[in-house]
Amino acid sequence: MKTKLLTEQDIAAAAAILRDGGLLGIPTETVYGLGANGLDPMAVRRIFQAKGRPQDNPLILHVPGSSWLERYCREIPEKAYTLAEKFWPGPLTMILPRREIVPDEVTCGLGTVGIRCPNHPVTLAIIRTAGIPVAAPSGNLSGRPSPTCAAHMLEDMDGRIDAIVDGGPCGVGVESTIIDLTSLVPRLLRPGGLPLEALQEVLGEVAVDKAILAPLSAGEKPKAPGMKYRHYAPKAPVTVVAGKGGRTAQYIREQMGEHTGVICFDEYTDRFPGCAVEAIGSSQDPGEQARRVFDALRAFDGTDVTAIFAQCPGDAGLGLAVANRLKKAAGFQVVDLGEDEA
Ligand code: TXA
Ligand code: MG
Repeated sequence: MKTKLLTEQDIAAAAAILRDGGLLGIPTETVYGLGANGLDPMAVRRIFQAKGRPQDNPLILHVPGSSWLERYCREIPEKAYTLAEKFWPGPLTMILPRREIVPDEVTCGLGTVGIRCPNHPVTLAIIRTAGIPVAAPSGNLSGRPSPTCAAHMLEDMDGRIDAIVDGGPCGVGVESTIIDLTSLVPRLLRPGGLPLEALQEVLGEVAVDKAILAPLSAGEKPKAPGMKYRHYAPKAPVTVVAGKGGRTAQYIREQMGEHTGVICFDEYTDRFPGCAVEAIGSSQDPGEQARRVFDALRAFDGTDVTAIFAQCPGDAGLGLAVANRLKKAAGFQVVDLGEDEA
């Protein structure tokens, strides 16, 4: 199969691919997605094949607004509409009880479905033109860092899907925040482009799923099945070094060797002579870190780097999502130097 590159003008052609059961790379504000008709079981199965995705990892349905919630979800609490009103279109996925019309292929047999309205004009236009909800995981091969531009998606998906719509680089850079609204206390299943603090302002108490902060022990099941897999991983192993910037930079200097790659904040780029260095933004700017973290993880592939060390932001704001992606890329291999400055 030859994978076509479409432009923002090709809305009708893109919608036709979806309606015909094909696979389409779609730009969103978070990361590029691998979309298919979310009501067509055969089309959805092709997503799993193209990505090499485990069969027990459900997909998010993308809709153009909260007026479509009733079509695919039931027992929708008022707070779902409040959240949609405030944060949609935007990087928030809500887990709600599903209706029968949503195929098992999307939910992997769960009684719930993840639903989100992406904030990208081109993809919203494609969904509206096609008139169907779009099931879409991130557009990477399973286990790889998520793509934040069309070229990165093509790297992983060339020859596997019908087309990719180039909608420019993603403005947020990490995937959506996932909130489970089916429990009494709403539960954060994945930190993402919408900060936890913003959800707490609307919802009050929010429980934080254990799988976000630490590896699960054998036999433990995360609420979001995807959180159990090693993820976002470049080819070389990653070690995350948590703590104050100066100390973490010093620690990495002590470890570094000939083929070391370093992911660091802008302030520290000149501390690692002889290493391959990827800066992800100022230590004070988690928004910029979010935009650049996946590109940094991808950048070492195809180089002679055999070990990667990464400085890691604190948990405030988008820092929670950036830290989670780095720790998952590291398989939770974390050196924690604590909060003291050396
Ligand atoms: O920003 C995003 O959310 C991107 C763009 C393309 O929209 N999509 C994305 O999809 O990140 P994916 O498939 O890479 O991650 C979806 C996560 C997985 O961890 C999956 O297990 C979880 O959402 N998930 C999906 N449906 C669920 C459900 N019904 N209950 C619990 N977790 C669910
Ligand atoms: Mg993904």
